[in-house]
Amino acid sequence: MLKAKIDGIQEACLLEINNASDLQQINAIKIKYLGRNGEITAVLKSIKEASVAERPQIGKWVNDAQKLVEGIIADKENSIQEILKQKRTEEETLDVTLSLPQGRSIGALNPLTLIKNDITDIFIRMGFEVKDGPEIEFEYYNFTALNIPKDHPSRNNSDTFYISDNLLLRTQTSAVQVHVMKSQRPPIRIICPGKVYRPDDDATHSPMFQQIEGLVVDTTVTLRDLKSILEEFARLFFSETTKVRFRPSYFPFTEPSVEVDLSCNKCGGAGCNLCKSTGWIELLGAGVVHPNVLEECGIDSSKYKGIAFGIGVERAAMIKYGIHDMRLLFDNDIRILKQFK
Ligand code: DAH
Repeated sequence: MLKAKIDGIQEACLLEINNASDLQQINAIKIKYLGRNGEITAVLKSIKEASVAERPQIGKWVNDAQKLVEGIIADKENSIQEILKQKRTEEETLDVTLSLPQGRSIGALNPLTLIKNDITDIFIRMGFEVKDGPEIEFEYYNFTALNIPKDHPSRNNSDTFYISDNLLLRTQTSAVQVHVMKSQRPPIRIICPGKVYRPDDDATHSPMFQQIEGLVVDTTVTLRDLKSILEEFARLFFSETTKVRFRPSYFPFTEPSVEVDLSCNKCGGAGCNLCKSTGWIELLGAGVVHPNVLEECGIDSSKYKGIAFGIGVERAAMIKYGIHDMRLLFDNDIRILKQFK
């Protein structure tokens, strides 16, 4: 009789499981049959009313029923989970043909990065290799090895950010010339784009700015080669008709030294506010590498000659875009930046 009761409960339970369609219903069934006060549990509890001889048999019937129900519940749970998962995946499907929300703006490179990339590309096309150097530099590389005397004003606290007595933020990418010449034998043909630092801050100076250093060392390079390299650069970077002019100057690490002017690309040389009516705009410093610098770097100055130049990236950008205030390039004003996309 008890067996029939167990079978009856089991059958009713299986029917309910079969009809269940969600996890809540399954949970309710679990409680109803297998919970502490569940129907199958109740039969198990009633075992103590049976005779000792009957108990093992009843125990087995109840255990079998319990196992069967548990197994079927687990299967049903799995199949419901599976259906839910499938439904979720279907709902989450991406429609790649949907159009983008309107009015969302896409970022662009900062004009200074564009200019730096343009200049770098031009020199790569002319056969220059791109080198890198540290921004935190020993004073030896930034000054001493470049033939800059101990009492030179550029070494003062007012012109250089010092970190300690002999460590500083490099003030010029010329320091990389020294690293390259000490580690590489001629022929050398490199440029080094990078950040430099000086305690200056006004419309045409920023405490951080960028330079692109150039260096060629070979047996037969001359000032004439320097001019033709810079003319080619000016032609490619500004325009076909841009002219280059050398003016005598002084840098401790070059002899002779020159300041390099370009014909104003705004007025074509006629004179305007950008070139202060002179028709020329100063762009960079350059020269023939001083023999002391070559020798300091272990290069025989009776065999080899060097030419070098240092281009100001911000200055090149200001000239190219006709900007008078360098700070516009650093302010990140979206109205300005948008114009360079
Ligand atoms: N380092 C110089 C400066 O920051 C620029 C310069 C001048 C670089 C002459 C050179 C050079 O390589 O030959 O003002």
